[in-house]
Amino acid sequence: MSEQEIKVPDLGGADEVEVIEIIVSEGDSVEEEDPILTVESDKASVELPAPTAGKITRITVKVGDKVKEGDVIGLLVASDGAGGSGDAGDDEPAEKDGEKADEQSEAAPEDAPPAPKKKKSGGARTEVVKVPSLDGFDDVPVIEINVSEGDSVGEEDPLVTVESDKATMEIPSPFAGKIGKILVKEGDKLSEGSDLLEMTIEDDGDDEEGSVDSSDSARAESPESKPAPKERKQESAPQPQGSTYEPPSPGTKVHAGPAVRKLARELGADLTRVKGSGPKGRIIKDDVHAYVKSQLQQAQQGTGVATGSGIPGVKLPDFSQFGEVEREGMSRMMAATAANMQRSWLNVPHVTQFDDADITEMEDFRKAQKAAGEKRGVKMTPLPFLLKACAAALAELPQFNVSLDMERKEVVRKKYIHIGIAVDTPHGLMVPVIRDVDQKGLWELAAESAELAQKARDKKLKPAEMQGACFTITSLGGIGGTAFTPIVNTPEVAILGVSKAAMKPVWDGKAFQPRLMLPLSLSYDHRAVNGADAARFTNLLTQLLGDIRTLLL
Ligand code: COA
Repeated sequence: MSEQEIKVPDLGGADEVEVIEIIVSEGDSVEEEDPILTVESDKASVELPAPTAGKITRITVKVGDKVKEGDVIGLLVASDGAGGSGDAGDDEPAEKDGEKADEQSEAAPEDAPPAPKKKKSGGARTEVVKVPSLDGFDDVPVIEINVSEGDSVGEEDPLVTVESDKATMEIPSPFAGKIGKILVKEGDKLSEGSDLLEMTIEDDGDDEEGSVDSSDSARAESPESKPAPKERKQESAPQPQGSTYEPPSPGTKVHAGPAVRKLARELGADLTRVKGSGPKGRIIKDDVHAYVKSQLQQAQQGTGVATGSGIPGVKLPDFSQFGEVEREGMSRMMAATAANMQRSWLNVPHVTQFDDADITEMEDFRKAQKAAGEKRGVKMTPLPFLLKACAAALAELPQFNVSLDMERKEVVRKKYIHIGIAVDTPHGLMVPVIRDVDQKGLWELAAESAELAQKARDKKLKPAEMQGACFTITSLGGIGGTAFTPIVNTPEVAILGVSKAAMKPVWDGKAFQPRLMLPLSLSYDHRAVNGADAARFTNLLTQLLGDIRTLLL
């Protein structure tokens, strides 16, 4: 197990770059290609990856140092004992580096971007600015648009920022001029030659003909006169961007490298809220950690200090002082359910409306279907009736079939009726969704709900089968209870809780009659639904369930 040098690999043409962040510490174990440190030129930041898996024994540079290709940045003991060039991210033997760099620089002119297309417009000319060479990267997502239509920009001002999994690059403006139509949006994937935006350039006499021929283009793209983005290429192959990639909120500038963005995504930290302490306000990993730590501390301070949502956190005592305890990690499902419940509970002003439906006749009818159900191999429980009644109520009172978009101050009205059913399973609560409930018959609903409930218990539900609900029914009727206050499954705006039906004496005007009463608990989002509508909703449900013939109307 010999110690080997970690060297700066080919930087794709950049001479000297500045170390802006040291990502690992001495003693850290790294995998091959794990980022070791981040360097930055005036156009791009790049992470230098570990050349091989192993243990970092020394880091020989510090933040602010300038490094160039071939410089030693640290030492590492390879975990497999294998040697290697020691060049970060370079699989080639060390002696070949020089050749490689030469090849790279010779090849550079061919990397020039294609000629921009020109359009004449009065005294000014309009150019379609295209994406120049991205040093071998294709399909690189746009993470930031740095300009808006109508902005005046100088030559070399950044137009858009793109980010591969290894590098963040700003594509600079090839000209001074005015931004016209922007032809890309955040999240779009760009390759060399993609149209970026239109720019209007005032003729200033230098450009005699007012039109640009290929020599103009060549000049525009020549490294001496116009900037092509000099992305500092990594020798290691880029890895595909995960599907969890989310661009930051539009309009907010974030200066951070790929590893920092990845860390922030993993920790759920919003980089637009993190203050950068690196050069030029750049966000470094320590900033993200410090931000997350401060958020957690706030959340854990049980008294006084409010969390980001304004709610004081709950401070846990040391339970072992009261007796024996055991700690167990939450399952992913439990953690996800807990987060969803809390999010709904904190975001939604809940009110619960109670009512009882007289299901005496419905139960007679349901029981009369037993033989038919056996023939079909389907058990008719109260649930299909509840689904049908809720679908009818959602159609009649469409203010329950909405979601609120508070950011845009819009109400989203749904023209479909999909209903979720809460299913109790040994591994936690799951909510499969029955689509187009209004268009299905009782038997179909009975069969589908039984099938989905079974799939839930067997952990066989597909994600698509748990999405798209407008409303949820949670039935504890098979278990017991007289009423409860379910939590709205936001962004839905209402949920119906059903408790156990019980025989009750009901006054018919002359005498008490024994009637089978089904307790209903409708929780709703009071921002979307008012109390009178909630009373109308449960009223309608009691009518529909009280006389199921009305479900046919
Ligand atoms: N009142 C009285 N009895 C009821 C009833 C009610 N409201 N609802 C169901 N029953 C009866 C059924 O008729 C059946 O009795 P039977 O065998 O004599 O016919 C029995 O209870 C069991 O029914 P179940 O198998 O639960 O079927 P279902 O169609 O009513 O419910 C689910 C299916 C998936 C909703 C149910 O199994 C479930 O998981 N419920 C729990 C949901 C939950 O955990 N919610 C809490 C969320 S916080």
